[in-house]
Amino acid sequence: MSGKKAKLIIDDQTYEFDILNGSVGPSVIDIRSLYAKTGMFTYDPGFTSTAACDSSITYIDGDKGELLYRGYSIDELAKDSHYLEVCFLLLYGSLPSKAELDAFENRITMHTMVHEQMHYLYRGFRRDAHPMAVVCGVVGAMAAFYHDSTDISDPDQREIASVRMIAKMPTIAANAYKYSIGQPFVYPRNDLSFAGNFLHMCFSVPSEEYIVDPIIERAMDRIFTLHADHEQNASTSTVRLSGSSDANPFACIAAGVACLWGPAHGGANEAALNMLREIGTPDRIGEFVARAKDKNDPFRLMGFGHRVYKSYDPRAQVMQEAAKEVLELMGVENNPTLQVAQALEKIALEDEYFVSRKLYPNVDFYSGIILDAIGFPTSMFTAIFALSRTVGWISQWKEMIGDPQKKIGRPRQLYNGAPRRAYVPVDKR
Ligand code: CMC
Repeated sequence: MSGKKAKLIIDDQTYEFDILNGSVGPSVIDIRSLYAKTGMFTYDPGFTSTAACDSSITYIDGDKGELLYRGYSIDELAKDSHYLEVCFLLLYGSLPSKAELDAFENRITMHTMVHEQMHYLYRGFRRDAHPMAVVCGVVGAMAAFYHDSTDISDPDQREIASVRMIAKMPTIAANAYKYSIGQPFVYPRNDLSFAGNFLHMCFSVPSEEYIVDPIIERAMDRIFTLHADHEQNASTSTVRLSGSSDANPFACIAAGVACLWGPAHGGANEAALNMLREIGTPDRIGEFVARAKDKNDPFRLMGFGHRVYKSYDPRAQVMQEAAKEVLELMGVENNPTLQVAQALEKIALEDEYFVSRKLYPNVDFYSGIILDAIGFPTSMFTAIFALSRTVGWISQWKEMIGDPQKKIGRPRQLYNGAPRRAYVPVDKR
């Protein structure tokens, strides 16, 4: 608590509310007693001014373009750390010692296989199903396969559910991909890195050895790291809201996957690449930019803009570098999609409409380009985002469950429907 008070005056009556300070970032006005004191609610659809929880995992300064996981900057982590170390950091709050990291990596790799019976679950889907539809269904079904880790009141079960989710998500996503292209599922290989194993499960076939290229492996690991957590975004808030009812963790993560799928959130990487392909050649960019600016046209430049970042998206900067490395390796510098992307980025960064609204390319703009160059179809992009974000969802869920102040999430509303009226029998209407 800061000791400072906020005063609210309604009809000459003054009400006081505590102001709470976080370690960094904006202070908050504690309005938990507002309804009891005034009989009024606050109105904030889209939560643009509402802190829904108290958290110590991730911090974003949107004006500075800063993203910190447990206090460490994303640029440093993406450069010097790697995904599994970042998972440990997000889950347990500090960087691991060498022994802790080895033990954690070993624990994760011991859980990479999925229950063999789950393969039948995949076979029930149409081959042309969207991988996100499959991932959403399979994650939701995990509670049926791993019932022994669904008791959320038991810390050991919470821990094992967390490890299972992080370890199995790559296998779940890779299986969705293999199923969609009619190839056999590839079992995980625990001698490979987390990223290397995912690439192996996606791109190897029984008839041929797949050698993981270290540049691609590093880029994949960076994509995982950059997407690992992002404060109280829509899917994370969905996981928290689902978990607030004490639903099991697998059901909560499935809810997060469902929310992430939307094109305004995780679906933007797929939508961004589809848009670049639709534009096709740099000479058509003007037409699409004009549509994005036209208030009568719902079209938006996908991969541009962010609710919180208003100077730049720090993840996009790292992604831009990784994109360069991968594209050089793959020899696709002259790829038409990339040419459109580069020209679009330049035009949008100079255009008054985008500059005045602080609309910059976000992480999804570049991650789609990298994933495309690696060989993933666009339909897999959001599934890869989901597997990267699982650790963030799980860390936020664990933090919430362990919070003694936890309450079921229950927003209120400003009602604008009909007031009470008498029922009219059908023959009298
Ligand atoms: N193209 C054209 N205009 C845009 C765009 C865009 N991509 N994004 C925002 N605007 C305009 C919007 O029309 C509005 O203009 P005006 O003030 O004249 O009415 C202004 O910018 C503010 O937009 P907003 O919708 O109020 O902003 P928001 O904070 O609610 O939305 C957003 C943020 C990310 C949903 C939005 O920028 C968007 O739809 N971007 C495209 C989708 C996208 O790339 N999403 C990925 C987000 S990053 C990954 C993640 O975290 O999931």
